[in-house]
This record gives sequence, C-alpha cells and structure tokens, in this order.
Amino acid sequence: MYEIIQAPMAGGNATPALVHAVAQAGGFGYLAGGYKTVAALKEEIHSLRALGTDYFGVNLFVPAQPNGQTALTKNYCEKLAIEAELIDTTIGDYTYSDDEWSAKFQLMLEEKVPVVSFTFNMPTPAHVLQLKEAGIQTVQTVTSVEEAQQAEKLGVDEVCVQGIEAGGHRAAFDDRDPVETPPLVQLVKDVVAAIDIPVIAAGGMMDGASIREVLDAGARAAQLGTAFLCCPESGTKPTHIKALLDGYFTTTALTRAYTGRLARGLENDFMLRYNDAPQAYPELHYVTQPLRKKAGELDRPDLLAMWAGKNFSAIRVLSATELVSLLKKEANLL
Ligand SMILES: Cc1cc2nc3c(=O)[nH]c(=O)nc-3n(C[C@H](O)[C@H](O)[C@H](O)COP(=O)(O)O)c2cc1C
Repeated sequence: MYEIIQAPMAGGNATPALVHAVAQAGGFGYLAGGYKTVAALKEEIHSLRALGTDYFGVNLFVPAQPNGQTALTKNYCEKLAIEAELIDTTIGDYTYSDDEWSAKFQLMLEEKVPVVSFTFNMPTPAHVLQLKEAGIQTVQTVTSVEEAQQAEKLGVDEVCVQGIEAGGHRAAFDDRDPVETPPLVQLVKDVVAAIDIPVIAAGGMMDGASIREVLDAGARAAQLGTAFLCCPESGTKPTHIKALLDGYFTTTALTRAYTGRLARGLENDFMLRYNDAPQAYPELHYVTQPLRKKAGELDRPDLLAMWAGKNFSAIRVLSATELVSLLKKEANLL
C-alpha cells in the first residue's frame, strides 16, 4: 500500500514521466485532468501506460455554476486589459466552461482509470456509483470536517484533506475566504475523528518528518505537490523553477488575482497589486490565460502565476524516483 502520493497539478506540471518516476519508487501519482482537452488527457493516460505504469490516478475538476459579469468583474477585466497591453498581448474572454466534465468523466470509464479524484465540488452519487461499478476507486478533496462528512455520505472511498498550507487552488466547495483553519495535522486529526473512511493529507509537506506527522495523526497517506515541482520529470516552467529556488521570493499567499478562485502561490508583484480581485472562477481563469502564457514566454516572475505551498523553500532538486525514496526513508516507511 503506497503512503506517498504525488498530487495532480494542472498547468503542465504533472506529466506522465513524473507519475511514472514516482511509481518506480513505490509512490502513487496523479495526472491532472483540469484545463486540458479530452484528447490530450487520453493521450497522457496512454503515454503513462506505455511507460509501464498501470496503477495511477486522474484528477477531475467538478464544475460549479457560471458567474455572470458584475461591476466588480468588469472593472477587474479593464485593469487586466491594460496589464496585457503592456506586454503586447490581450486578455481572454470572460467565459464559462465546465472543463468538458461529461466527456472527461466518460473517459475515466472507457479507460478504466484505477483511481479518480474530484476537486472543487462533489460529483453526484450516481457518478460515484458508476465509477464503483466499473471497479474504479474514488477520492474527494475536502478542506474541512463538514466537507469530509458530506464526501463520506456521497459514498467515495477516501477523502483527501487539503490544509491551508497547500500550494495551488484551494479545494473548498464554495471558495469562501478561509476562517479559523487549523494547521494540517490538527485538521487531519479532526477529520479522522469525524468520519470512518480513510484520509489522505495534503498541504505544506516537503520532507519525511512532516509525512510521518500526518501518518501518526491518522492519515493513511500523504499527498505532496510543491515538493515535486523541481523534479526534472515535471513540466514546471523555467521561470517558476527559478523563482522557487533563487531565494528572491520568500513567502506565499492566497490570491484570486489569476483565476477568481483562491489559490496559493509565490507572492509576486501581480498578486500584491490585485489582492482584492473578485471571486469569479473559472471565468477569470480564461481572462488571464493569455497574460499568464506571455508572462512565461517573457520570463516575468512578477506577472506569472507560480503556485507553491507554504513550505516551498525546503524544495529539493532530485529526480522524482530519488525524492520518493528519500521521503520514504525519512518517514521510516522502508
Ligand atoms: C502547481 C500546482 C498545481 C496544482 N493543481 C491541482 C489540480 O489540478 N488538482 C488538484 O486537485 N490539486 C491541485 N493542486 C493541489 C494539490 O493537490 C495539493 O493539495 C497541494 O499540492 C498540497 O500542498 P503542497 O503543494 O504544499 O504539497 C496543485 C498544486 C500545485 C502546487
């Protein structure tokens, strides 16, 4: 049974090569279903299987309702248009997409993906049942005891408890501003006490000692994202890698500036200037898409979204196989 999980990371980080390298060391990895087309996701699943890894997960974003334009979002888009112009690009449309939810869900069934995890919202009980009948394991990402209880009722096999320390988007079902969020270890203890299904812990773990702590708190496994961002098998952009390593960025923060949904990343100039960005996910994700792409091309860490967990400064540059082996040793899992 694997105890170390490489998190799904949409945006190109969680490549088939990364998932494969993690599996080589006895870990378990996720491909990220979010944002990519159904065809691209299918291709990744096939590439991973061609490398020889058959036991893996795919993460899907469960869509929420569209957000109409408001005075706040219009005003924010106007500011973003100026930002885009300054780097010779334009903003994208304020548009809604369900991230091809139905087609991606069907793909999970067709491909018999071993494990499917859900983020941002819960699927319906019928969806979970369909996967179960196909022999597919299901995991729901949660951020609180209440969400964990809802997920247990839904009938998933496991929950992944995401702490406030986590890099990337917060998985809260309703994207509220977090209040009274205990540190991960306490949250894990609270969730373990409240539900009967297994718990996976995620958020801010960079070494074996922190993995050991969540396991001792009752978690079945630890899911790490940021720790894998500088592995050569990951698809992290060079600007992002440099920013994680060069010591210029010292803190992370939660922001809605890039996508309209709270996410934790390296606190850069763009996040500081738009720390009051409105809540409108996924619409603002599409608005800022060309701007983020251009910021990467121009090597502009002051503008690029660089998701990272709170403890990113402890990142190690190792192959994913070496990293998982080391984490296991440090956590006394060998
Ligand atoms: C670059 C990046 C992208 C992420 N993308 C996803 C995603 O697509 N789906 C998801 O469920 N979680 C995503 N996450 C969150 C992870 O699942 C996990 O909660 C987080 O990485 C744990 O915190 P850590 O980064 O401090 O290890 C992402 C995290 C990062 C750093």
